[in-house]
Amino acid sequence: MAAPPPTEELPVREAEKKSSTEQEINPWDVQAGQDEQGNTLQFDYVAISQKWATKLIDEVLLQRFERLTGKKPHRWLRRGLFFSHRDFDKILDRYEAGEPFFLYTGRGPSSDALHLGHTIPFTFTKWLQDVFDVPLVIMLTDDEKALFRDGLTFEDTHKFGLHNAKDIIACGFDMKKTFIFSDLEFVSGHFLYNVWEFSKLLPFNQVRGAFGFDGSTNIGRIMFPAVQCAASFATSYPQLWPNYDPKADRSKAIAKIPVLIPMAIDQDPYFRLVRDNSHRMRFPSPKPALIHSKFLTALQGAGGKMSASDPNSAIFMTDTPNQIKNKINKHAFSGGRETLEEHQRLGGIPEVDVAFQYLSYFEDDDAKLLEIETSYRKGTLMTGELKKMAIAMLQEYVKEFQERRKGVTDEVLKGYMTPRELVWKGNPNPVKK
Ligand code: TRP
Repeated sequence: MAAPPPTEELPVREAEKKSSTEQEINPWDVQAGQDEQGNTLQFDYVAISQKWATKLIDEVLLQRFERLTGKKPHRWLRRGLFFSHRDFDKILDRYEAGEPFFLYTGRGPSSDALHLGHTIPFTFTKWLQDVFDVPLVIMLTDDEKALFRDGLTFEDTHKFGLHNAKDIIACGFDMKKTFIFSDLEFVSGHFLYNVWEFSKLLPFNQVRGAFGFDGSTNIGRIMFPAVQCAASFATSYPQLWPNYDPKADRSKAIAKIPVLIPMAIDQDPYFRLVRDNSHRMRFPSPKPALIHSKFLTALQGAGGKMSASDPNSAIFMTDTPNQIKNKINKHAFSGGRETLEEHQRLGGIPEVDVAFQYLSYFEDDDAKLLEIETSYRKGTLMTGELKKMAIAMLQEYVKEFQERRKGVTDEVLKGYMTPRELVWKGNPNPVKK
């Protein structure tokens, strides 16, 4: 017979126990879960992929990518920093068939300073742009950030946006194929038509849950998703496409050009709305394809993400080599042991070691990385040495960025932000029969 439930004990235990919390991931709030003792857990990316029914990026997909493009998948694909997708395989089908598509990504300009985590999607998008040779649009949601942050005016976020755009340009985009726009400046004309047309397809009931809106939400916030969504339509920018004739209504053909959107996973709810409704536009568009990244771990480790408001959590793109060194040495959570003797006996734990994680995102050589991981786990490689390697890689990445950044004048910025016909070679498709 089963033992009777411990009726007397239960209330006491419940009182002592801090309840565990689940992770929360949405466009405005990203929090890892906590265990019953209140310790922050790592993000569970498989769980979020399952919950939202995205596909995990697997070996088969990466092999096909390599076969079609002739390029080795970026280390951020090989190492799972970009871990999930929707219809990326369909984009590969397009590429194989030599048919056009475009890239779209964005940034919410909530501060002047970009940190390392902010540059990841852009550096990755730049790589995609090079590999596929396709046009790219980059949206600065200066409207969004003023609507969602108390204390920020539209003037503030507009200014941040222009400043951030210079940093984004310093990630290396080819001006001929890249258009950067501020929502506050550019959302008008064709774009605005699409915003309103799309908004008309969305009952409030459908968005309130996904975005956590309620009766006290300001209506700017409620409208904003239509703006971020409408940027997925090629028809929002007819002037970017070759041979555009403003007098002819070519939107129907342009509408068929699909988009691939690289983003951090928290942005997925927006684009689910587009995927569910893009066929209902006057000129129907294919469902946008999405590729999702994880968040770059904060220096403090598990469950944190780099945050511009906490200088010790992040490496900033303006940091000097010395600042980078000090931040990693002082603040990077270590998976090493307390004493040398213990470390040699038990070995380090690369899974929780922040320096190791950064190294894994910046060391391109797979064999070298594996060797580092193995010797750290064995305890023959010390935390100090590991940190030294991570510091060198980060210093190099930031230095290269800063060198490119020096060349980004107001004139250059204006070049990227002027709506104009984009120029790209088309699809070289090496495997076309
Ligand atoms: N809302 C995003 C942010 O706060 C900015 C953004 C707009 C974006 N469009 C995007 C990000 C498309 C990724 C892809 O950062």
